[in-house]
Amino acid sequence: MEAVEGKIRKQGMAELKTPCYIIDEGRLKKNLEILSQLEKETGCKVLLAQKAFSCFYEYPLIGSYISGTTASGLYEARLGREEMNKENHVFSPAYREEDIEELVGLCDHMIFNSFSQLEKYKEQCRGVSVGLRINPECSTQEGHAIYDPCAFGSRLGIRAEQFPEILPEQVEGLHFHTLCEQDADALAVTLTAVEEKFGRWLPGLKWLNFGGGHHITREGYDLELLKSCIRRMQEAYGLEIYLEPGEAVALNAGYLATTVLDVVENGITTLILDVSAACHMPDVLEMPYRPPLRDAGLPEEKPWTYRLSSNTCLAGDIIGDYSFDRELRPGDRLYFEDMAIYSMVKNNTFNGIPLPSIAVMDEQGECRILRRFGYQDFKERLA
Ligand SMILES: Cc1ncc(COP(=O)(O)O)c(C=O)c1O
Repeated sequence: MEAVEGKIRKQGMAELKTPCYIIDEGRLKKNLEILSQLEKETGCKVLLAQKAFSCFYEYPLIGSYISGTTASGLYEARLGREEMNKENHVFSPAYREEDIEELVGLCDHMIFNSFSQLEKYKEQCRGVSVGLRINPECSTQEGHAIYDPCAFGSRLGIRAEQFPEILPEQVEGLHFHTLCEQDADALAVTLTAVEEKFGRWLPGLKWLNFGGGHHITREGYDLELLKSCIRRMQEAYGLEIYLEPGEAVALNAGYLATTVLDVVENGITTLILDVSAACHMPDVLEMPYRPPLRDAGLPEEKPWTYRLSSNTCLAGDIIGDYSFDRELRPGDRLYFEDMAIYSMVKNNTFNGIPLPSIAVMDEQGECRILRRFGYQDFKERLA
C-alpha cells in the first residue's frame, strides 16, 4: 500500500503509474447484486471461480453477496479458505497424493474427474461432500474449440457409458462445466442432455453443479431462463444447485492502464505500449479476442487508426487495430476495458517485462494501489 502521512493515498485514475490493473468496485458490486438476487430468488448457491479472478482484496466484499469460492487445486482452495472462508469447492482433473489431506481440510466439496481418482482417495475424503464431473457430450458453442470440454476425446468429465449401474455410496453430487461466455439457452440444451444421459442417477443425489461459463451479468442475458433452468432441476430431483461463474463475477469490472512508449511506421502505424498481450492479457492471443478500449473505435471508424502492440520481442504480440479521434503520441494514456478477469491470474514476466500494479477504484472514482511489483518479483520466480 502507498502510505502518505499515515493514510493510504488516493489518486485519480489518470495519476496512476502505468502499467496498472484497476478494479472497478462499483461495477463489481453491480455484478454481485445480480448474482446475490439470483441466489435469493431461486435458492441456488453461486461460487466465485477463482481461476478467473483471484483479487483477494475483494473477497470479503464478494463473500458478502455470494455463497463462496471454487478452486482448481490446492493454492486456490487455500486462498478461498483464507480470504473468503465460506463454502469452498475444488475440482481438478487429477489430484496429487501430497495435496489430498490439506485439500480435505480446506474444502467442503471435492469433485473427481474419474472413478479411479475417487477410488484412490475415497477413504481420505470421508469428511467432505464428494462429487463427480460428468461430460454430457453436448457442445453448445463453435467459436472457441480450446474451451470445449465436450469435444471428442476430451479428458474433462466422465461419459455416461462409463457410469456403473449404481454409483459408489460416497457420491453425493454431479458437476458439469461445458459453457463459455454463453447465455441460458445453451444451459437449457445442456440440461436436457444431462437428463437424457445421467437422469437415472440424479434422484439419489444431493446436489448438481452447473459449472461456469454463464455470462449472467452481461447485458441482455436471459436471467428468467436461467432461473427456470435452476427450478427445473430443483423440482424434478430435489437437488441443491450450484453455479460457479468466474467471468460473470467481475465482468467489465476492471481496466488495464497503459502508456504509449513509441509510434513506429512500417507500412502500418503501430503504437508500442507498456503493456503486452502475451504478458498481461494472454487471452487476447489464446482465445483470441480484441479487448475493448476506452474512447476507441473499429479500424477506420475514427480519423486516426493504429495497431496497438507491445514492448516484447514477440512479433505477434499485437493487441489489435483501433481508431481514435486524435493523433496519438508517446506519453498518451489508454485504458483497456474488461481487464479484471483472466488477466492478473494469467500474467507473466516473459522478456522481464514488469507486472502491472494492481489498484482498486471506489464508487467515487478514487483509486488506491493495492500492490506494486518489481525486479524481485521477476527474479524470485527463477533460479
Ligand atoms: C470447472 C470450471 N468451473 C468454472 C469455470 C469458470 O468459467 P467462467 O469464468 O467462464 O465463468 C471454469 C473455467 O474454465 C471451469 O473450468
